[in-house]
Amino acid sequence: MNARILILLTATLAGGAAWAGDPAVGEKLATAKNCAACHQRLVGGDGSKLYTRADRKLKTLAQLASQVHFCSTQFKTGWLPEDEEHVVAWLNHRYYQFK
Ligand code: HEC
Repeated sequence: MNARILILLTATLAGGAAWAGDPAVGEKLATAKNCAACHQRLVGGDGSKLYTRADRKLKTLAQLASQVHFCSTQFKTGWLPEDEEHVVAWLNHRYYQFK
């Protein structure tokens, strides 16, 4: 791995750890057809019950970040790492409220 890639990677990870995402940007991304449409089919309403149900799977901010990354990759959103950060920031701000 060359040094420039290493620096880029480190910067990305450091940025991720700071959770500098913007919830307002994340909301637009996550409520569009990308994510919400499928969750709506699963749980009805606006799909947000998936995030608030009592037996939800996620317990930490790190798990939330990895779930968003997994879904984003799986469903080929084409999001950049910072887009994922925005979505994590919004989901955490609006629903999960992990510290
Ligand atoms: C094709 C359907 C589908 C799409 C598209 C989808 N999801 Fe999901 N999502 C699911 C399913 C299924 C689960 C797991 C439900 C379960 O295990 O009970 C889930 C779970 C989640 C959870 C965890 C909920 C909990 O238990 O707390 C998050 C967060 C999440 N999705 C985010 C996203 C994001 C962000 C996107 C858009 C990139 C997305 N999902 C796109 C089907 C989808």
